[in-house]
Amino acid sequence: MNKINPNSYFENNYRSLVKRYNCYDTEDIHKSWISNVNFQGLKVLDVGSGSGRDALYYASQGAEVTAIDFSSNMISYAKAKDYFNKINWIEDELPNLASQEHSSNFDLIAATAILMFLSPEEQILALKRLFELLCANGKIIMTFKEDLEDNLAYKLSPVFIDTAKSLGFEVKVVDGGVDKNSSHNVYWTLFILSL
Ligand SMILES: C[S@@+](CC[C@H](N)C(=O)[O-])C[C@H]1O[C@@H](n2cnc3c(N)ncnc32)[C@H](O)[C@@H]1O
Repeated sequence: MNKINPNSYFENNYRSLVKRYNCYDTEDIHKSWISNVNFQGLKVLDVGSGSGRDALYYASQGAEVTAIDFSSNMISYAKAKDYFNKINWIEDELPNLASQEHSSNFDLIAATAILMFLSPEEQILALKRLFELLCANGKIIMTFKEDLEDNLAYKLSPVFIDTAKSLGFEVKVVDGGVDKNSSHNVYWTLFILSL
């Protein structure tokens, strides 16, 4: 199946996509990990911040948040909801994240529902780049959607977990089960990578 360009897809469809993202509640959609995190004072990077739903939640819980998305429309939409300018909104792209000059800068990196839009090779580059940006004892939270009918989505790199372990992460894999809101078979997996 031919892949379509993810950047133009998200840019052109941002209105309908943010409506969909806004249907979900952050605490509910991330219930398997979020209640264990005390966000107060944490430096959080939200990559693929989309509608800003999650980034705004992390900030509301006391985190210092940087939110990154490669879609300028997504960034403008989300920024308009940040009435008190609490969040640093940046247009940038995984795997390079060229805007980020400082290594070991974040306590928590959330890259939820974005990994499958990278090719398997880019997934590994992204993992290594996020590792560089993470503090000692930091965590990366990633969710991955397996959807063979989505011509934007790739399979997970077969060396993803081994690469994470070789970087020094303890890897917890949580089966997110079938997506009940989808008309066909879509499976979610959560990765909690801890240093
Ligand atoms: C499915 S949304 C995820 C939104 C939010 N994190 C969530 O959990 O609902 C994916 C977002 O990632 C952005 N995105 C996809 N690939 C990206 C990349 N390589 N670099 C930066 N942003 C990307 C899209 O523009 C979109 O806003």
